[in-house]
Amino acid sequence: MNNPNEYQHESVLLFETVASVLGVKNLNTISKNQLPQNQSPQNSPLKKTTPEKKSGIRHSGIFVDGTFGRGGHSRLLLEYLADDAKLIVFDKDPQAIAVANELAKTDNRVIVVHDSFATLQESLQRLGIDKVNGIMADLGVSSPQLDDGSRGFSFMRDGAIDMRMDTSRGQSVGEWLATVTEEELANVLYEFGEERYSRRIARAIKQMDSYDSTLELAEVIKQAHPKWQKGKHPATQSFQAMRIFINNELGDIDNFLQQSLAVLAENGHLAVISFHSLEDRRIKQFLQRHSRGQYPEDQNLPFPPIRPKYFAKPKRIAPSAEEVKHNARSRSAWLRTAKHPLTY
Ligand SMILES: C[S@@+](CC[C@H](N)C(=O)[O-])C[C@H]1O[C@@H](n2cnc3c(N)ncnc32)[C@H](O)[C@@H]1O
Repeated sequence: MNNPNEYQHESVLLFETVASVLGVKNLNTISKNQLPQNQSPQNSPLKKTTPEKKSGIRHSGIFVDGTFGRGGHSRLLLEYLADDAKLIVFDKDPQAIAVANELAKTDNRVIVVHDSFATLQESLQRLGIDKVNGIMADLGVSSPQLDDGSRGFSFMRDGAIDMRMDTSRGQSVGEWLATVTEEELANVLYEFGEERYSRRIARAIKQMDSYDSTLELAEVIKQAHPKWQKGKHPATQSFQAMRIFINNELGDIDNFLQQSLAVLAENGHLAVISFHSLEDRRIKQFLQRHSRGQYPEDQNLPFPPIRPKYFAKPKRIAPSAEEVKHNARSRSAWLRTAKHPLTY
């Protein structure tokens, strides 16, 4: 395994997410030494609202970070947790887990789970935990995954066509491409990448002799793509689609959201960051359904059943203009939050 600290990740919507999961309006009490790795007050998008004074407020309870990555959100949250609090961190990626294990060695509030957040309820039960007070997730890939060409996520860096977040199990994209039919491939490109030219791209990919190099794959897609958008690599959507498919990203999100209903304690908070419309739409619809008690399947019924309202006050938060200027990755991010009131 490469050195997991070789590549860095700059957390998106960091302060907003931690404030949301704690159920506070803002974290206006951050001191210089509370800022996580890589985020000095100088480069922090929120530097103007971070006075140097510590408030000393610490929250007890059990919290979950479903996507540890390099631990940006976790480290900031820990600054606000009491000594008796627990933070359960999940990640699929062995490199992220290596970093999380390092943190757990120095902070006994941290418990590490190397698994998908889709196993939320089962993994918590295995730890003897029924309910938690807050859950956050920062979906998708991390910068270290994209920047390390050997992981196969990038169409800009050469490497094996892998794209698995969990390299310890499952099939790589390269292995899948060797066996998938042209039609199935086209469907994946269309469904998970919203790629208009999915059929001709799938045809070109299936004509390749081997599936060993991300740059070769990107070039074949580029040649097959009839309409290049300015400023966007023509393989962007196809790579996104294959990554989402091979990691079952949307299925995992659905399972995770569904299980959050069972594991969030009363007044617990959910905070989820997404990076594209396929993810954001699911989260939005889930929160709408469970905050209004309105289900699409009830729409044509003369007397729609009364459904429980599991969430209150769903909110959508965008990164500030300052953050977008400073971190281009945050451009497409949305944070959706809600409180679990459990009122029937
Ligand atoms: C955007 S990064 C998170 C960055 C993190 N918040 C930070 O500040 O360092 C996304 C992380 O989620 C992980 N991931 C994606 N889908 C996952 C899933 N279903 N279960 C667990 N981890 C997942 C990826 O491996 C990656 O490390």
